[in-house]
Amino acid sequence: MADFDKRTHRLSLADLRENYGLARLTEQNCQASPIVQFENWIKDAERAGLQLPNAMVLSTATTCGQPSARVVLLKDVSDLGFVFYTNYTSRKALELESNPFASLTFYWPELERQVRVEGRVQRTARQLSEAYFRSRPKGSRLGAWASRQSQPLPGREPLDARLKELERIYADTDDIPVPEFWGGYCLMPGVIEFWQGRPNRLHDRLQYRRNSEQNWIVERLSP
Ligand SMILES: Cc1cc2nc3c(=O)[nH]c(=O)nc-3n(C[C@H](O)[C@H](O)[C@H](O)COP(=O)(O)O)c2cc1C
Repeated sequence: MADFDKRTHRLSLADLRENYGLARLTEQNCQASPIVQFENWIKDAERAGLQLPNAMVLSTATTCGQPSARVVLLKDVSDLGFVFYTNYTSRKALELESNPFASLTFYWPELERQVRVEGRVQRTARQLSEAYFRSRPKGSRLGAWASRQSQPLPGREPLDARLKELERIYADTDDIPVPEFWGGYCLMPGVIEFWQGRPNRLHDRLQYRRNSEQNWIVERLSP
C-alpha cells in the first residue's frame, strides 16, 4: 500500500513491488525478425484483452537534448517501421522536425512485458496520412481541425466553440478535407529491446540491433 504523509505531502511507493514469472524470453524462442517478435507480442496483448495495447510512450528531444514524452497510438507496423499520427505543429512534431531521433516504449503490465524501440522518424507519404484521416470517425476528423495542438488556450470555451462551428459547417457532408498540418510519422527502428519480467529482478532482455549490412543482431542484456 502507498504510504502518504499529510504534513509533507510525501507519498512513499517503496513497498509497491511485483514478482514476475509468467513467461521466459530466450535466444531459442525469440523470432529472427524483431518486427515479427513485436507483432507476436502485440497480438498476445490484444488476445489478453488489454485496453489499448497499441498505446506507446513517444520520447523526443530538442536539439539541445532536452527530452519530452507523451502517449500516442501505434497505427501501423511493418518492416518499414512504426507509424503514428499527430499534428505537425505540435510540440512533439516541432522536436521531431529539428531532431528526428526518437524512441517508443510499450508496457503491457498484465503480460509482464516492455518493448523499447529507437530510431529515426520521417513523415509518412501524404497519401497514407490522407487515407488514414478519411478512415477516422467524423468527430475525430473535426477535432483535428479544431485543435491547435500544444498551443495554450485561455479556457475550454474557444475549443468547444470551434468544434461547434465546424459541426455546423460540415453538418450535411462527410467530406472533410485533410488538414495540411496533420499527418503521420514513421519511426524506422535501429534498436528494439524486448523485456520479459522474471523472478528476483533477473529479467530477460533481448536487444536487436541493425548491423552495417542492415541485418538484425540479437544480444542478451543484463537485467
Ligand atoms: C491513450 C492516449 C492516446 C493518445 N494518442 C495520441 C495520438 O495518436 N496522437 C497524438 O497526437 N496525441 C495522442 N495523445 C495525446 C498525447 O499524449 C499528447 O497530449 C498530445 O499529442 C500533445 O503532445 P505534445 O504537446 O508533446 O506534442 C494520446 C494520449 C493518450 C493518453
